[in-house]
Amino acid sequence: MGETSSTTYARLHAAGLSRKDEDDFTLVCFDMGASGVAEELKFSQMDLRYDPDVIETPRMDVNVFFTQEVDFAKVVEALKARFPQAQFQITSEENKDWLAEWKKGFKPFPFAGPFWVIPSWLQPPPEAPADTSKHIYVEPGMAFGTGTHETTRLAAGLVISEVLRSPSKSLLDVGTGTGILALIAYRLGVAHLVGLDIDPEARRTARENLELNTATAIEIRDYQISDETEVYDIVVANIIDGVLTVLRHDLSRALKPGGRMILSGVLMDRESEFYQGFTADTGLRLIRKVSEGEWSAALLEKEV
Ligand SMILES: C[S@@+](CC[C@H](N)C(=O)[O-])C[C@H]1O[C@@H](n2cnc3c(N)ncnc32)[C@H](O)[C@@H]1O
Repeated sequence: MGETSSTTYARLHAAGLSRKDEDDFTLVCFDMGASGVAEELKFSQMDLRYDPDVIETPRMDVNVFFTQEVDFAKVVEALKARFPQAQFQITSEENKDWLAEWKKGFKPFPFAGPFWVIPSWLQPPPEAPADTSKHIYVEPGMAFGTGTHETTRLAAGLVISEVLRSPSKSLLDVGTGTGILALIAYRLGVAHLVGLDIDPEARRTARENLELNTATAIEIRDYQISDETEVYDIVVANIIDGVLTVLRHDLSRALKPGGRMILSGVLMDRESEFYQGFTADTGLRLIRKVSEGEWSAALLEKEV
């Protein structure tokens, strides 16, 4: 999500995009000059009560916002060629703020365990826990990690159960994005928390997000995992499996003996091969696997 706001913008509406193309589509749009990409989230609403379950369908509708002049005929042509199953429509709208449009689609929702994600401009709904330590505030324009993605939810579930099982003193979050995984560990009482991310923009937004959530005790550090010299009780990494494989020795080195590692971002198609390779090369023991949709995540343990 870019962070430019403008009084004039063009909106490209993509209908029927295949969900598996979501990441590719987003990248292509940003490459072509988009300032923001937002799924038109569909929420189920049981009775007249507010029920914020997000309905995930195999096809999705997406709004792409442009705040700069681009050749829209060319953009649509390129998108049609790449995503032939989707329908595209451009509307140019004056005196509107795309950020405001993006905000309209984003509602509070139950995220993982007792935690709710609340957009920073909204009040928690009555269904959210009264305990404000269970509210995670998010802003538009943040890095990956607003809690809507399966891989974040899977990792968060494992972080929660692991911290509750055995109160841990320290946690390293590799590929921290908005810092959301470190944030829930902090709220559950973990004292020493460090987040790393290869992307400077993610590190910047993580710091902003942690400030928004009054959790600046979480340190976002500027070095890479290869330069990490501390060891932690828990190491969590939600990054695509190919990258996790590359980082496996560094991730394992940062874990204390007897410590636990949480990996997420593993595609189901490759999971058995991935976990086999990862555990064989690091000596970590696979304890538990969980999955949602096409994604798998796991809890591993280092020998004492
Ligand atoms: C899938 S997002 C996860 C964000 C957040 N932790 C969550 O669970 O929602 C992956 C993050 O890993 C970062 N990343 C990718 N490769 C990395 C690497 N080699 N070292 C550190 N971070 C990396 C990306 O910049 C991105 O912010």
